[in-house]
Amino acid sequence: MSVAVREKVVSGYHTHIYPAKQDMCEAMAQRIREMAHAEVAAHGRFTMTLSGGSTPRGLYSRLAKFSEDEMPWTKTYLFIGDERCVPSDSPESNYGMVRDLLLSHISIPSSNVFPTVEQDRDPDKAGKKYDQTLRRFFHIDEQNAEGKIPVFSLHLMGLGDDGHTASLFPGSPAINVHDVLYTSNYVQKMDSHRLTMTWPLIVNASKIFMMVEGAGKAQIIKQVLTEPQHGFPSQMLMHQLKHKDQLEWYLDESCSTLL
Ligand code: 6PG
Repeated sequence: MSVAVREKVVSGYHTHIYPAKQDMCEAMAQRIREMAHAEVAAHGRFTMTLSGGSTPRGLYSRLAKFSEDEMPWTKTYLFIGDERCVPSDSPESNYGMVRDLLLSHISIPSSNVFPTVEQDRDPDKAGKKYDQTLRRFFHIDEQNAEGKIPVFSLHLMGLGDDGHTASLFPGSPAINVHDVLYTSNYVQKMDSHRLTMTWPLIVNASKIFMMVEGAGKAQIIKQVLTEPQHGFPSQMLMHQLKHKDQLEWYLDESCSTLL
């Protein structure tokens, strides 16, 4: 089912703008399905990190409708792009949201899904453990890891109204971390810790989809895409990309009114 979309290039980035969030979720789900099949054909697997927050909920629910015939779930590997330091049964848990909306509805082997561990008890240890999980999965051992960064098929990411992405918040320590793939991060404005991908892992992906919706994000989208002087973490991401077409913006009309 084709969906009405406005295609734009904004500051050099492919930007897909949909009439409503539901249309965006349908189109993104179809795009991810096609990408997964292409990745499996080319590399034998599709690797993806999942974002948290509220924006991707509709997309996860739509992806959950794909059967094994439609989506190669047994060759799909899902990781958590960032996580709150809460138990996975907390309503705040990103993994908990993914489990409830997606994982519990699809035929994906549990060995293909990588939640964080101990995040609610020891953020620093949990960050190190997930870094090791990533290195083990991508066969990068710590001894000769120099310059070896995993290449994910896709990062699905969101944008906060302060310009953060993943759990890389403005002024937080992790925005300056480049020697590991994943780390804990103290977020002062929330007085809490998060776990997050770091820039090297983020910018090395084949593709990044930044998914944003709602009138409340119209101002930040305009600033992030057209006012580079702000230096938001989401802009730091763009500045570190090897090439601009690694990143595509998926927006609904309500957050695109100022573009
Ligand atoms: C999280 C996310 C975060 C999110 C933005 C947008 O754990 O919250 O991973 O980076 O994408 O904060 O959140 P909303 O989708 O709720 O606006």
